Order: sequence, then structure tokens, then C-alpha cells
Amino acid sequence: MKRIFFLIPVASIVLIGMTTQQIDKKVMDRGKKVYSQYCSPCHQADGSGVPGLNPPLEKTTHVLGNKSSLIKIILKGLNTHEEINGETYNNVMAPHNHLTDQQISDVLTYVRNSFGNKASLITVAEVKSVRAKTK
Ligand code: HEC
Repeated sequence: MKRIFFLIPVASIVLIGMTTQQIDKKVMDRGKKVYSQYCSPCHQADGSGVPGLNPPLEKTTHVLGNKSSLIKIILKGLNTHEEINGETYNNVMAPHNHLTDQQISDVLTYVRNSFGNKASLITVAEVKSVRAKTK
């Protein structure tokens, strides 16, 4: 009987681990596709960017921070040339509002969990709500 009390929590942790990993992998695969097509020409396949032109997407405030601001950057593009980790970048990022809510949630979840980043998922509902407020 004692053993059951030990096994139940262990089994649930393993199961939860397996299911979250499974969801992540599908989202990550889709996100990687969107990234390769729309983002990597500028930000590079490994997220390292191009000095002076396109910022890296490694552990920056925008990538890891406020989700609404991050979603807004994808929808509206960015042309502020503010310092990002002490550097400035002179290229212009065009708006990507032609991407679907699903594509944006996938690509941002991918970016937030690649290149050494580790942050929470961005859901389709979150993108939808920011899009509705960003016109
Ligand atoms: C034409 C090149 C180009 C493309 C394509 C592009 N970006 Fe950008 N991106 C930039 C530039 C340049 C900046 C910085 C602009 C500035 O400083 O004003 C930027 C900024 C960003 C930032 C903010 C970085 C920070 O830490 O402040 C994020 C996040 C980002 N891009 C993600 C993406 C994603 C995701 C995609 C694909 C959906 C994408 N970009 C496509 C050039 C590009």
C-alpha cells in the first residue's frame, strides 16, 4: 500500500512530462518552419542576427519579456533603433501581420524556447487579443 502512494506521484510527473513535451515538439516544429521562412533571412537560423543590421534573438528583454509587446513587434514591425543589450541595429523590420494567429503563436513560442531562451508559450488566443487591439 505504501508503495502506491509513492508510485502515483512519480507516475503523474512522468506522464505530465511526456504530454507537455509532445505538445511542445509539434508547436516547435511548426514554429521552426515559420521562422525559417520569414525570420531567419534577417535574424539567422541560429538567432544570432547580423551585427549592426538585425538584432540577435538570444535572451533579449523583448524576446523573454512582456508578451503583448513581443506580439506587437511581429504585427507592426520595428523601426525604433533603440539599444538592444547595448547595441543598435539599422535595418527595418517590416510588419508581419499577414501571418495567422497560429503562425505567430508558433513562431514566438519557438523563438522563446530556442537559441538558449527559455520562456512560457504564447497562445493563439493571446495573439488574437493583441491583434484586435492593434490596428
Ligand atoms: C528584414 C529583416 C527582418 C525580418 C524578416 C524579421 N526581422 Fe525581426 N527585427 C529586424 C530588425 C532590423 C529589428 C530591430 C529594429 C530596430 O531596432 O528598430 C528586429 C527586431 C525584432 C525583435 C525585437 C528584438 C529585441 O530584443 O528588441 C524581435 C523579437 C524580432 N525582430 C522577431 C522577428 C521574428 C519572429 C521574425 C519573423 C516572423 C522577424 N523578426 C522578421 C529585422 C527583421
